[in-house]
Amino acid sequence: MPGGTGVRALVTGGLGFVGVHVVRSLLDAGHSVVSLDRDLPDAVHLRFLSGAEQHLQHVRADLAEPVDRWQSLVGEPDVVVHTAAVTPLAPGEELAATARAVTVNVAATVQVLELAAALGASRVVHVSSGSVYGVPAGDPATGPALGESSALAPRTVYGITKAAADQLAQRYDELGACEVVVARLAQPYGPMERTTSSRSALSPVHDWAAAALAGEPLELEPGCLDRGRDYLYVVDVAQALVALALAPSLPHRVYNVSNGVCTTLREVRDHVVAAVGDTGTTEGPVNLPVEAERPVLSPARLTADTGWTATTTLDDGLAATLDWLRGSRELTGAGVGA
Ligand SMILES: NC(=O)c1ccc[n+]([C@@H]2O[C@H](COP(=O)([O-])OP(=O)(O)OC[C@H]3O[C@@H](n4cnc5c(N)ncnc54)[C@H](O)[C@@H]3O)[C@@H](O)[C@H]2O)c1
Repeated sequence: MPGGTGVRALVTGGLGFVGVHVVRSLLDAGHSVVSLDRDLPDAVHLRFLSGAEQHLQHVRADLAEPVDRWQSLVGEPDVVVHTAAVTPLAPGEELAATARAVTVNVAATVQVLELAAALGASRVVHVSSGSVYGVPAGDPATGPALGESSALAPRTVYGITKAAADQLAQRYDELGACEVVVARLAQPYGPMERTTSSRSALSPVHDWAAAALAGEPLELEPGCLDRGRDYLYVVDVAQALVALALAPSLPHRVYNVSNGVCTTLREVRDHVVAAVGDTGTTEGPVNLPVEAERPVLSPARLTADTGWTATTTLDDGLAATLDWLRGSRELTGAGVGA
């Protein structure tokens, strides 16, 4: 079973928003990491991951390719954290991207599970999404926080592929091939949120923070300020995923990774204005990828089984995001989301 120090971890999607924080958290805890991604690290990644290079190996591979083309690159991991995915698709992109989303989010996930079992990994953490629960019936600000036994009711191509992979992962665990733990993430925000070759839409937290820093107005849609989500600072997300990867034993196989509270876009806007100043607003699209609203998820099971709780307030998380955006702009001399 996992635990102790010196664990060898494979992180898929290790250059993505969530994956790079998982890599950083594992390195900071003294573990060694193979970070697999279809992209190559750039200057922003290298700076973010600096200081532990001797324990980090970057592997460039496409998980959608047949496994025999990349399995020799991943070593013999003790644990796998599978974050690689095609992430939220704007409604206009869904039709064209459906086959790709199924290939990466479902078929490649099965390849990762099979390989982890073949290599004798003791646990896979499969990173899933609150989108598997679908759209909340009522107001997420006042509705109940959903537990892990809530019905799956995905509404979008992205959510459907995540739910299929989530259920396959659970079945794989039941069949005894390999221990697989599913982690359903609420809405992460924070440093290193960037467009990737698999993701074009970023969160409103990112977009508004970046606009305000550039002295530009925040783009708002009519009525959007009342929309709420369960926002969670990405370092808290990564620490939860590492806790799930390394816990000596876990009594459950599915965990929400969430704050358990609804934050409205009005609160996000007010915090951005308080931190940066008022740069005005203009009517424009708000990036709420896929569903405008998602349910609030209860983190009670995760806290009970691992001791993890979210510790970062929106104020602190936004301040860290703004610091990172300023630093990235200096490093790249270009758009912070690039
Ligand atoms: N960011 C969110 O809002 C959010 C919310 C809930 C759940 N999640 C889940 O978290 C996980 C990570 O999401 P993210 O926000 O970090 O996305 P991201 O796009 O920032 O990162 C995904 C990474 O996976 C890599 N990747 C994609 N396809 C690949 C392939 N075929 N082979 C190898 N690498 C590949 C990409 O290059 C990218 O670096 C996903 O499973 C996603 O479903 C994300």
